[in-house]
Amino acid sequence: MRLTIIGAGYVGLVTGTCFAELGNEVMCVDNDTRKIAQLKDGEMPIYEPALAELVEKNRQDGRLAFTSDIETGIKDSEVIFICVGTPSRDDGSADLSHVEKVSRVIAEHMDSYKLVVEKSTVPVETSDWIIKTINTFKKNGCEFDVASNPEFLREGSAVEDFMNPDRIVIGVGSKKAEELLKELYSPIETKIVVTDINGAEIIKHASNSFLATKISFINAVSNLCEKTGADINSVAEGIGLDSRINKHFLRAGAGFGGSCFPKDLKAFIHISEKLGYSFDLLKEVEKINSRQKDRIVNKIKDLLWNLPEKVVAVWGLAFKPDTDDIRSAPAIDIIRRLVKEGAKVKVFDPKAMEKAKKELAEDVTYCVDIYDAADSADCVILMTEWNEFKEIDWQRVLRVMRHPAVLDGRNIYDPEKLRQLGFKYSGMGRK
Ligand code: UGA
Repeated sequence: MRLTIIGAGYVGLVTGTCFAELGNEVMCVDNDTRKIAQLKDGEMPIYEPALAELVEKNRQDGRLAFTSDIETGIKDSEVIFICVGTPSRDDGSADLSHVEKVSRVIAEHMDSYKLVVEKSTVPVETSDWIIKTINTFKKNGCEFDVASNPEFLREGSAVEDFMNPDRIVIGVGSKKAEELLKELYSPIETKIVVTDINGAEIIKHASNSFLATKISFINAVSNLCEKTGADINSVAEGIGLDSRINKHFLRAGAGFGGSCFPKDLKAFIHISEKLGYSFDLLKEVEKINSRQKDRIVNKIKDLLWNLPEKVVAVWGLAFKPDTDDIRSAPAIDIIRRLVKEGAKVKVFDPKAMEKAKKELAEDVTYCVDIYDAADSADCVILMTEWNEFKEIDWQRVLRVMRHPAVLDGRNIYDPEKLRQLGFKYSGMGRK
């Protein structure tokens, strides 16, 4: 099939590239001309495992192209995916102005039947607005359908998640839309859940909110563990082995960040409120997540007493491993608080240094590795559980630190081992 993907961000780029890999002819459109120029030159605007290779391969095979010319993109394809950003507004609602703009442009340029698919995460009933907008601005009698096909890609494993999903959700209002989307996904073996469009929109927000709830639940339990001396890692194992609960998303720590959970939770709470339901459970999920960061700052103070002039090394800046994304990353928030309180902060992350430099500028010292960061530090905080941070030379860390304190914000280290070596160890819900 010929497909157009509007918005070449994380979602659009992965979706477009993977559809090309499945044999489709894909045109990725973005109004960021610099990004398009970069992609045309074979440079990647983001780090995502396996993506660069797939982009290159499909570009060379002629199945994947990039353009800033949205008009051509719309005219060329029968199926158009909207993958533009839906950031949070100050009141927590999703800002749908990009979706509206794209819908209007599609209406103005469509010259034959189009299936317009929402891939961006949007609140329930957004499709009604897209339909109204297209009907208002279309210039001819061309028919169209709108469908919702939410993505469940995780940054860091987005390509793998696309190719091997747990399920594919399609929310449709016509048989034609259903058939087109089923055909498009036919090379992927998995269950396809077909719902109405509102159902698909709710599935996306509810899935992310449920996963965030699991994380806040385990973080809440980790408070109890801390007060009683129990270890949250073994408590989580004991809970997660129940197949009805399962072990995923039960890792206690600094809390969730990223471009999805914080934003989608807010948007789901907001749309629920608007529809007349106060989703108090999710409001508490947000509060627990925010308190995890307070907990970390308080723990640092417990380890170091006063912060002014203390040197704190932060290992990991990305909101999770295998990505360079620092959007809503707990590490960035915590660093800002430490700097504000007078601490000197040294940072290292295997992939997120460039993005961090734009965000934190001169406020921190950028280091070449974890040992460099730990050099002369009074405390090391592990904020992102990169694999390469798991097996390290602790003797070397001990030798270079000024005061050997470790705050394990993701509970990946062995407290006993570190204490035996001479470190003061503090975790999140464990002795
Ligand atoms: C999330 C969902 O997992 C995807 O299914 C979804 O498609 C995506 O949002 C989206 O809406 O686009 P992502 O934000 O990439 O994906 O990251 P996750 O792997 O879900 O992690 C989110 C945050 O939760 C990270 O900060 C991570 O450190 C934290 N987390 C995760 C925990 O603190 N504990 C856990 O047990 C799991």
